[in-house]
Amino acid sequence: MNDRIREKSNGVVTVFAPAKINLFLAVNSKRTDGYHELTTVMAKLGIGDLVRIEKNHHLKEPILSCPGFEELENRKNLVLVAVEKWLEKVGGERGYQIGLRKKIPSMSGLGGGSSDAVSALLAMNELNDNQLSNSELKRLASEIGSDCSSFLDQGICLAEGRGEEISPIIASVTDDLLGHEIFLFRPSMGLSTAEIYRRLAHNRTYSSLEWSKERVGAWSAGKLPTEEFLHNDLEIPVFQKYLFFQPLFDQIEKEFGLKSLLSGSGSCCFTCLPKDFEKHHDLKEMIELAWGDEAWVQKTHLIR
Ligand code: C5P
Repeated sequence: MNDRIREKSNGVVTVFAPAKINLFLAVNSKRTDGYHELTTVMAKLGIGDLVRIEKNHHLKEPILSCPGFEELENRKNLVLVAVEKWLEKVGGERGYQIGLRKKIPSMSGLGGGSSDAVSALLAMNELNDNQLSNSELKRLASEIGSDCSSFLDQGICLAEGRGEEISPIIASVTDDLLGHEIFLFRPSMGLSTAEIYRRLAHNRTYSSLEWSKERVGAWSAGKLPTEEFLHNDLEIPVFQKYLFFQPLFDQIEKEFGLKSLLSGSGSCCFTCLPKDFEKHHDLKEMIELAWGDEAWVQKTHLIR
């Protein structure tokens, strides 16, 4: 995880918080605790936020600033939740000045809030002689959010259970994908994860665990191309309510031969660009024509 640390000097640590996409997301069943059982493959992206934490003995409580996104400066922000959890576990001085530089749009299925939280845990630990072990950090992360644990692992990984049971994917498959260009596109509105899962539970459009394991097995054995592996069960509840996704996906497929996918519970979507792709401008224009200039469009790549 040390490669996420962007700055470390006396009493200050800055940690990069990468965004993620789900290359595969199967919802297998509803659990008795209200969550859903998942089989998902998550991949980290080169785009991300920065979490900077500085010790400040003049402060009595941790405080958060998020330039340009003042609406995120509150106690519910997962960065502050993470810092509080770390302090609860370890104790010590409470004076920390936290700066969050946001690039990942919220409510997008890109894991921004979760990744920020994990980077905050890493920064607190780094500032304080790494007092918590990796497994203790993992436990704290999984208490903050279902997909937080995955950000403690590198690159592309498999997440099961509520999303917190992480295992690595065979390197030969993932190494091939590193550096691969990803085009992200998001409509002007965000989506609530809880609402999307509620809609799916109402429809009961689950994928069987057997099928999910078979797909992941075939892909990680190199027997299924990534293009065919791409899948997200949360597209059904999202596309049912928001009718503007599918027509753009169809248009992108027809014009550029590219398959698009919703990431997580949305609203951000992505398409994996082939190595020789040169029509970025045309693709951006098509998206903005369909969803308006307010659409967010970003080229990035898969990272380790
Ligand atoms: O864990 P997290 O707070 O990120 O989840 C947000 C919401 O998404 C949960 O309250 C739940 O409604 C839904 N969810 C779910 N099953 C999961 C993950 C999330 O139903 N595995």
